[in-house]
Parts: sequence; structure tokens; C-alpha cells
Amino acid sequence: MRRFATRAILAATRSPEVNQTPSAVPIYQSAAFSTGDASELGDVLTGATAGYAYSRIDNPTTAALASAIAELEGAQAGLVFATGMAAIHAAIVSVVRAGQTIVAAKAVYGTTRDLMVKVLAGLGIETEFVDPRDPAAVDAVLARTKSPLLYVETISNPTIVVSDISALATIAHGHGAALLVDNTFASPYSCRPIELGADLVMHSATKYLSGHADVLAGVVVGSKARIDALRPILVDVGGALAPIAAFLVLRGLPTLSLRMERHSETALELAAWLQGQDGVDRVYYPGLPDDPGHEIAVRQLHVFGGMLAFELSGGREAGRAFLDAMQLAERTASLGAVRTITTHPPSTTHRQLDAAALAASGIAPGLLRCSVGLEDVEDLREDFELGLAAARRVTKAAAKRG
Ligand SMILES: Cc1ncc(COP(=O)(O)O)c(C=O)c1O
Repeated sequence: MRRFATRAILAATRSPEVNQTPSAVPIYQSAAFSTGDASELGDVLTGATAGYAYSRIDNPTTAALASAIAELEGAQAGLVFATGMAAIHAAIVSVVRAGQTIVAAKAVYGTTRDLMVKVLAGLGIETEFVDPRDPAAVDAVLARTKSPLLYVETISNPTIVVSDISALATIAHGHGAALLVDNTFASPYSCRPIELGADLVMHSATKYLSGHADVLAGVVVGSKARIDALRPILVDVGGALAPIAAFLVLRGLPTLSLRMERHSETALELAAWLQGQDGVDRVYYPGLPDDPGHEIAVRQLHVFGGMLAFELSGGREAGRAFLDAMQLAERTASLGAVRTITTHPPSTTHRQLDAAALAASGIAPGLLRCSVGLEDVEDLREDFELGLAAARRVTKAAAKRG
């Protein structure tokens, strides 16, 4: 008979035998997977035999998530990461080398921009920013820089600019460059960039894919060859996703279509209402017929999505007053969740940009960005009314002061 400590270890690490299929993907919360003999371990580690050895390399729960998102995006393969930024970093460095230049849309998520201009610039990779709505400019910059990659967001953060993925894929491929698309704002329910010619598609799965603001995760999908090229970056840099985090994203996927429909319906109603309000200079939402991205959005998006932005005539002070007056929407920096989130990008998500970079990215001082949640639209409109009333008071007081 073995002693107590040994028996406790063996008793507590014996996996149950399960012959029926579970309704949800189990959380394989295990750092490692043991093999029958030494040669099997070698074969698994070298890829000669399919299987699992160590969860930074591969794990059944994270692999289930990667293949689910790849399928929804219409891609051959996928890899999941600890965060969206880890996924974006891996996707970019799988394509670009020191001495080369990235060509990126000028309105991208602030941290993505920082990754390019701070982290990657320090490694000898330069970035040139371009307006993705100007095909001639994109073509010229790709020709001049001989860049191996064009980087855009399907719907960009924070000014809700819709990129024409098919047109950009044709231009990029004409220069031998890969098209990388951050599809976070659209989600694969609304847009599948791989089907439109993109080479790698990334997500912050922290957002719509998981949908409940309770997990951080990232994913990259693409062809098998491109994902194979990415795998060493995941394994060697180590930004692997935890199995429980993969489970939480998997739990969001079955309701993605329902959530995106409702986010979009409510966002359109609020955007149309905001457009007529005193104190609102401009509303950015691709579902509005007069939005500059509307025509591309109709062609490319299944639903217009839950992200809208608007500029208050009272500038930064009005923006602050609007946010402080809201009682329902959360004041935070994330998006894509069940609760409505309103942010002031110049002081939060794009705080890294100075006044010149903000202007160059088309971000006005009074810009507010809203991730429209799943609440009742009437309650949200009442909350926006509180915000607008406060913004008008501040704007009037400033005008009086002269
Ligand atoms: C468009 C976009 N891409 C990427 C990211 C980064 O994702 P994560 O916070 O999961 O690293 C964000 C985060 O807000 C985002 O909005």
C-alpha cells in the first residue's frame, strides 16, 4: 500500500473517464499532459503525433476555441492568445522583419499604434500611416516603402471608419504585401475579411466574441501556412491563453449573432436620434445613410454593429460633462459587452496620442465613443438625454464667459 501523500497525489490527478459528449467544452486546466512513454512525448513535441504536451504549446480547450473562431471567420486555421494585443503583435511580427516598413491605417486602436511606433520601431520596424479610404495613397505608400504588410481595422477605433477590405486586399496583393485586418468591431457575424481577401484576421476576443466583459483573449486566423508561421511566436514569446479564459470566450460564441443583431438595432436607433439633437455636431455610424462609410458598409457588413461615435459642439468640457451625467452607461475603456460603455477617446483609449497625432487621426476633442449594449433602447435614450442636457449647460456657460 502506498503512503498517504503519494495516494493523495494520484487520487487527485486521475482524470475521469467520460464516454458521453459534454454539452460544453471542458476546461482542461492542466499545465501539462503526460504520455504513455518517452517516445510518445518526443513525437507529440515534434508534431510527429497529434496530441498535447504542455499548455503553452497547445491545450484542448484553447484549441477548441481557435478552431471555432477560424470556422466562423471562414479561415483554415487559428491560434488564440492571452489578449488581443498579444494576437496583433504575433500576427504583425510573423510578416515583417527588421529594416522593413508597416503600412497602417491612421485611425487604429491607440495601443496598436503604440505597438508600432514604440515597441516595433525600437526593433527597426518603421510604420507609415495612411488613410485607408484613399486607395491611391495606399497604393503609393506600398509602392514606395515596399512594405510586406498593410494593416487596417474593418471598422476603426474610435471614429468608426469602414475600410473596403476587398479593394485594399487587391491593392496590397498587387505589391506582394499581406493584408492584416483587426475585425474586433465588426465580429465575424457582421464581416469575414478572409472571404474578402485578407490574409490574417485578428480579434480582441475580450470584446464581442466573449461579449460579457469577464475575460481577456485574442485570436488570429488565416491560412494553415500563415498560422503555422505564427505558432513559434506564440510558443516562444509565451502569450498563451488560459483554458478557463478560452472557456469563457466559447460561452459567448453561441449568442454572438443574437447579440450583434440587438447591438446593431439599438445603435442605429440611437445614432439616428443623436443626429437631430442640439449640441451634437456630428454622428459617426455606418448605418446612417449619410455616413461616409455607408456605401461600403452596405456591401461589406451584415449588420452595422454596436459602435458609434459623436462629436459634441462644446468640445472636451462638454464631453466630460456628458460622461459624468450618464447614470446607466459605464464609464470605462472597453467595448463589445452587454452593458453600454461610453468613453472619451482623447483621454482614455487614445491618451497616448498628443494633440497633433489626435488631429492626424481625425479625433476631435469633444469626441465620445459609445459601445451600445443590450439594454432597452428607451432607457439608453433617457441616459443620453441626461448627458446632452449636461453638455449643453457647460457649453452655454462657456459661451457666456466668452
Ligand atoms: C480594435 C481593438 N483591437 C485590439 C484591442 C486590444 O485588445 P486586448 O485589450 O484584448 O489586448 C482593442 C482593445 O480595446 C481594440 O479596441
